[in-house]
Order: sequence, then structure tokens, then C-alpha cells
Amino acid sequence: MRVLVSGGAGYIGSHTVIRLVEAGHDVVVVDDFSNAKPTVVGRLEALTGRPIPVHAIDLTDTDKTEHLFAHEQIDAVIHFAGFKAVGESVAKPLAYYQNNLDSTFSLLRAMDRHDVRTLVFSSSATVYGAEPELPMTEDLPTSATNPYGWTKVMIEQILSDVAASDDRWRIAALRYFNPVGAHASGDIGEDPSGIPNNLMPFVAQVAVGRREQLSVFGDDYDTVDGTGVRDYIHVDDLAAGHVAALDTVGSRAEPMSVWNLGTGQGVSVLQVIKAFERASGRPIPYEIAPRRAGDIAASYADPARANADLGWRATKTIDDMCADTWRWQSKNPNGYPDA
Ligand code: WQD
Repeated sequence: MRVLVSGGAGYIGSHTVIRLVEAGHDVVVVDDFSNAKPTVVGRLEALTGRPIPVHAIDLTDTDKTEHLFAHEQIDAVIHFAGFKAVGESVAKPLAYYQNNLDSTFSLLRAMDRHDVRTLVFSSSATVYGAEPELPMTEDLPTSATNPYGWTKVMIEQILSDVAASDDRWRIAALRYFNPVGAHASGDIGEDPSGIPNNLMPFVAQVAVGRREQLSVFGDDYDTVDGTGVRDYIHVDDLAAGHVAALDTVGSRAEPMSVWNLGTGQGVSVLQVIKAFERASGRPIPYEIAPRRAGDIAASYADPARANADLGWRATKTIDDMCADTWRWQSKNPNGYPDA
């Protein structure tokens, strides 16, 4: 299929582009580059061995989005594009609601006008809210504790109502747990701008010497060692899950499906630190700091439905995730070049 990947220049989008090409699909990328560097495109063309058409537009611009669908023969869409920083969403709620919802409305309307009704949506485990039962299953109620999370809850609801209104749609919402790692080449990876909010990129920057030490946000949680436990999933496993969902969703009886993409295993902050030290051979100095507002003690998936329905399962270990992250970070100490 000819697949439009919105946010295809981003961390998960770029890794999914590679897996789509490897699976025999054609890819078109649309990205406004508000949180990605154009230099990733050259890396993708080198890794896939083919040109990657890119539309550098903002999907909230309905005219440009219409123009894209009128000029590209699109068969399906994987929708990653959106603002995704939890803390920033609390400070700028209107920007998050407007961007994440308007871009989705614009995309859905253009898809409908052009008879493109196969969609894989990038959702998040954050929709399980503040105190979810563990392991998290897809039938748990959804809620959020920040505007970013609410945009994911709201978009899932919008997609569910669109699917219920017209059964020509085939939609999959994929709820990611904690994406980490990098392509085995070390040529693409996570490149957050500014101080990383997330654990793995921060640890990688400590290892490569860009940061002095890690602050561990609390060691008094009710977990194996008191530090936060999460379901880290390798970005390549995540990308493979998107291709599996894309290839499966068209033959599903129901217009809308929801799948967790996780390993089902919880790993603590201290366990990540130790794994990264093994992978990099570098010490990761850290201090115990106060808990971070909004954090939950533990989060991990029950991935049984995705395993069964998609014939997909996560394959990589936390050691693989750290080794691949380290290869990317040590080859690209300052992330992607600007030009
Ligand atoms: C992981 C663990 C922290 C940084 C977030 C978003 C979620 C999703 C994935 C988009 C926690 C601890 C972290 C640090 C630390 N994003 N930590 N020191 O919070 O589970 O999920 O990213 O969908 O929506 O909420 O990921 O990597 O920020 O934190 O101790 O400098 O590492 O307390 O236990 P999180 P994270």
C-alpha cells in the first residue's frame, strides 16, 4: 500500500518508515518539522535505499492537507503527528488541544473526501490515567491527568464515533507504553530538543557526557526497588507493531480496534541505569530526587490481545534497548545535525 506517515520525521515515525519499506509498502511522509530535523530524511533515504517523498506542511492547514491528498495516491494513513510533551501540555493547553485535534480533524476529512479509510493512530498508555489496574488491558476505562493525555483520550473517542458512523472505516488505535532504543544502524534515534523529559534519552546524554548526572524522581514507590517501574518497548518492536496493525486492520470485522503495544514486563529506573552501564561501559552517576508530579509508581501492559490479533510480540530486551540507544547516542553525541 501507499502509506502516508504523518509525523514521519519523528522518533517513532522514522523507525516505522523503515519497517514499512522493508515490508514492501510505499511511503509518503508529512511533517511540519516542529519537533524533528530535516536531516533525518537523508538518513531514511540512505537506510531504505530509495527516495522518500516529504510534504513539509502543517496538517491543521486544511487547504494544504487537501492538496496533499489530491496529488498523492494514498491508500492508508499512520498518524503520529502531534505535540507530545506532558509538562508542556500543562503550560500550553490550548496549543495542545488545537494542534492535536485540528490536525486530526483535517486529516480525517481529507481521507473521507478521497475515500481513504484505513487509519492507524498513535495513541498512548497515558490514556489509562492515574491509578490503572496492572497489567493494563485495552478494556480498562480511559482518562488523563494532563492536556496531552486528554488529547489522546479525545481523539480515540472521535475515531470510535467516526468508525461507528460509517463502517467503511478500518481504524486501529495503538497504545504505546515507553518507547526507547534506536535502529541497529545507530543512524536514526531519539533526539529530544532541550533537556530530555524522558528517562532513556537523559541517561544516554549522561553516558555520552552531555549531562552531569541523572535525578532519580523518587525511590519510595511501592515497587521492586522503590523507583518507578515502566514497560519499556524497543522502537523497532513498536514499528513492527504498526506494520502488523496496518496489514491486519483492513480485514477486521469491527471498524475500530484498540491494541496495547508493550512487552508486559516492568523495569525500574535503577534497573535501566544498570542495564545502560552494562551496554555503554560508562558509569551513570545519579542522585535520588523528589518524586515528579503526575508520575505513577508502575505501568506495564498486558499485550495478549496484540499478540493474538496481530501475530506480533515485542522481541527485544532492556539490554538490547540500551545497546541500540548507546550506539545511536555515541555515533551522534549531539543528535541530528541541523543541516
Ligand atoms: C520513566 C520513569 C520517571 C526522567 C512519558 C509520558 C507518556 C509517554 C511516555 C507519550 C518514571 C523516571 C524520568 C528522569 C527519572 N509519552 N525518570 N528521571 O513518565 O513513564 O511516560 O513518556 O505518550 O505519556 O508520560 O516516561 O521516561 O518520563 O519516565 O527518574 O530524569 O523514569 O519518574 O518512573 P513516563 P519517563
